[in-house]
Amino acid sequence: MDPIVDLDFIDNRTPEQAAAADTTHITQETQTGKSRKLYIESYGCAMNFSDSEIVSSIMFENGFDTTSDIAQADLVFLNTCSIREKAEQTVRNRLGQINFHKKKKPEMMVGVLGCMAERLKKSLLEEEKIVDLVVGPDAYRDLPNLINEVDGGQKAVNVLLSREETYADINPIRLNSNGVSAFISIMRGCDNMCSFCVVPFTRGRERSRDAHSIVREAQALVDQGYKEVTLLGQNVDSYKWASEDGTESVNFAQLLEMVALLSPDLRVRFSTSHPKDITDEVLYTMKKYDNICKYIHLPAQSGNSRVLELMNRTYDREWYINRVDAIRAILGDDCGISSDMIAGFCTETEEEHQDTLSLMDYVQYDYSYMFFYSERPGTLAARKLEDDIPLEVKKRRLDEIITKQRETSLNRNKRDIGKMHKVLVEGTSKKSEEQLSGRNDQNKVVIFDKKHYKKGDYVNVLVHDCSVGTLFGEAVD
Ligand code: SAH
Ligand code: SF4
Ligand code: F3S
Repeated sequence: MDPIVDLDFIDNRTPEQAAAADTTHITQETQTGKSRKLYIESYGCAMNFSDSEIVSSIMFENGFDTTSDIAQADLVFLNTCSIREKAEQTVRNRLGQINFHKKKKPEMMVGVLGCMAERLKKSLLEEEKIVDLVVGPDAYRDLPNLINEVDGGQKAVNVLLSREETYADINPIRLNSNGVSAFISIMRGCDNMCSFCVVPFTRGRERSRDAHSIVREAQALVDQGYKEVTLLGQNVDSYKWASEDGTESVNFAQLLEMVALLSPDLRVRFSTSHPKDITDEVLYTMKKYDNICKYIHLPAQSGNSRVLELMNRTYDREWYINRVDAIRAILGDDCGISSDMIAGFCTETEEEHQDTLSLMDYVQYDYSYMFFYSERPGTLAARKLEDDIPLEVKKRRLDEIITKQRETSLNRNKRDIGKMHKVLVEGTSKKSEEQLSGRNDQNKVVIFDKKHYKKGDYVNVLVHDCSVGTLFGEAVD
């Protein structure tokens, strides 16, 4: 997932880039005089970025500051992604570059965390000689012990998955933070077994985090001046937490409400919604609270029912359309909707690919994250289906999907011209110090002249122009 961060946003990327959600995030520094320094890079989805904040917190408690300069690091962590082959290749290339630093500083320790660690386990130690420790997503509490082992001259591995671990009590150290928006993990793992997907193997069984610990984390962010939280899970609609004594139970709609009630000034977002599970109750809760953003990431993957069945998505085209109709009926045409699409899944015919394009016409997505199918070892599709669509065909179909999305994004953005948008300012625009950049309710980037406004302000912006990926406007006092 993490379509949430603009990893592959269509406006800025070539089809090849768009097909590879491999953006890196490098940490900000904590300089509190600890004896050793950690440098951490995260790949893949928002869950990984959020996990890196948990890892940094655990390491901080155990004598490590973070640094953004790899040359200064005593310990280098890559928090990795396995979702597509390209994502893994990026990490392997990066390990090659890190080797260069390690040659200059042989005592530098190198650890691979996250999904690739979980998928490849100790074979990573043999394949990539530079790696000293391999740690799966549920084993981060064990990091201090594993580091001790490496200090003692051993290589160390812990890839045990857990049915309970949610790191609920750990206070994340916010990395890469603009001080305005933050991620909160509300659950871990996934039980869905979509046939193309490696996540259930790398992240283990689905489990929901204690609702009160989520609310406490959100309250702490409000107290620190944050204005936006994004609740994260692979399938937030199946969030379900019950207290141990069984007297209390919280579903996703109820959790959303609990967080929304903390402050009318706090924007609440969430990702990812699964079409089979998103309920009208969630949609009505969104409608009830102005501060729950009217934007839903609802990955379709394909617009054809036969392909959806092969993908084991457990809904068909009609069901998906029915959910979109419900969103439009309850939240109106202005609610933002985005998708993930996979081009060239096993046995997909040309007509079936056309069904994906026609679904895109029907829904009018604001944007999409688009990929061509990449077979992942061990998944249901790898075991049962032949990856039979030639690469050129996959790429051509992906190109058509991207072209369609660009048209649709532009159309959707044009509808926003002439309207007032409430924008939460995230910082100065990349292109000019004189302009600010923020997002509207529908998660669209809005750029406008700075005037007296600053990061963290809510500003009313009258939009007068747009591109495929951005709205441009003027602040109205
Ligand atoms: N939990 C989210 C998605 C997580 S993975 C959901 O169910 O929608 C993010 C996206 O990566 C997926 O939605 C899918 O579009 C894409 N993806 C996953 N496995 C893939 C594969 N083997 N090849 C190409 N794209 C893949
Ligand atoms: Fe993967 Fe499907 Fe789970 Fe999403 S819902 S993480 S695509 S198995
Ligand atoms: Fe996320 Fe990649 Fe793992 S998308 S869950 S980091 S395989």
